[in-house]
Amino acid sequence: MTKFKPTTQTIAMTRRNFLGATAAGAAGLALGFPKPAIAQGAPLKVGLMLPFSGTYAKLGQFIENGFSLYVEQKSGMLGGRKVEFIRLDDESKPETATDNMNRLVSRDKADVVIGTVHSGVAMAMVKVARDTGVPLIIPNAGADEATGPLCAQNIFRTSFSNWQPAHPMGKVVHDDGHRNVVTITWRYTAGQQMVGAFTEGFEAAGGTVVDALTVPFPEVEFQALITRIATLKPDAVFAFFAGGGAVKFVTDYAAAGLKGKIPLYGTGFLTDGTLKAQGDAATGIRTTLHYADDLDIPANKSFLSAFQVKTGEAGDIYAVQGFDAAALLEAGLAATGGDASAREALFGAMAGARIDSPRGPLSFSAAHNPIQNIYLREVRDGRNALVSVAGEAVQDPARGCRMA
Ligand code: BEZ
Repeated sequence: MTKFKPTTQTIAMTRRNFLGATAAGAAGLALGFPKPAIAQGAPLKVGLMLPFSGTYAKLGQFIENGFSLYVEQKSGMLGGRKVEFIRLDDESKPETATDNMNRLVSRDKADVVIGTVHSGVAMAMVKVARDTGVPLIIPNAGADEATGPLCAQNIFRTSFSNWQPAHPMGKVVHDDGHRNVVTITWRYTAGQQMVGAFTEGFEAAGGTVVDALTVPFPEVEFQALITRIATLKPDAVFAFFAGGGAVKFVTDYAAAGLKGKIPLYGTGFLTDGTLKAQGDAATGIRTTLHYADDLDIPANKSFLSAFQVKTGEAGDIYAVQGFDAAALLEAGLAATGGDASAREALFGAMAGARIDSPRGPLSFSAAHNPIQNIYLREVRDGRNALVSVAGEAVQDPARGCRMA
């Protein structure tokens, strides 16, 4: 039998937040919001299953900070209920994901689970969510199946499907004049699906993928593959790496002398939340993503400044996705007076939510995946600067989803 490791941690809101929150809740009831059919004063238990260690640790941390920023801005409450977090480090390990998710749902009695970053871990979480009916909001992992063949009423995503940011890049690379491309990625769901979607878009535009290179996740020994790219001399390279692996790949690519010779493209994870560590090695890299640092809209400006004040760091896509996960949950709870067990009303309100996100307008498809703009960005002066809108209100095809 698998033994659970003692990795969960319960965090209640601070007293200051709690007092503010109580006042806000009382005001809400006075305004006539529905009264929760739940024990008086019972906190809303939010399970946060994220990587807090390993190559995706920073991504998990930023998602958590984005989520808690939203909750703090609502005086520590969602839907009129004090929020209590149960944190669990999933270590980006699919092999322990089912036990970890079961633990949050069955032992810790989480009212809702937020998670995770890694597509393989998310697949296990999705299966438990389908079996138990627990509300699940995915704040990053792009596994196409979650809003494809495994879609369900209780499963939502505030990030992207792996297809979404990768497919538009095919046309971008072709429009930039490149015809022969090498792809490179970690060999697991996210990388394989993003490379697949890029290839679909690139071939439809008339391009050819001359080699598809892979390395096991989370290995960062890239030297042999970079040497192969130098030998093949393609017009360009398309890459998926993220977090610590993206820092290593981009710096190794430049150190091997390929920067400026063979243009590097990718989904935005290659340069999001990584630019400080990548330095000049990242300059000029073009990526597609549902966010750009300099989006000139009020929701982005106020988000970035609040995030900077809270954490002392520049916000990124992971923080945005966490922030929007809290906004989506609140949209549902507002319709049920904070009752997460009133599932039909909760999911109905979440499905119909329209969020004024830092990324731009955000709504949800019938499969519960974001409908959102995909932006072409280029690294300039240490920022992912907006170049153009590569796709407006892009919808995942939701292949195999019975709700779509
Ligand atoms: C994924 O595994 O789905 C993923 C991880 C990091 C960034 C983007 C996608």
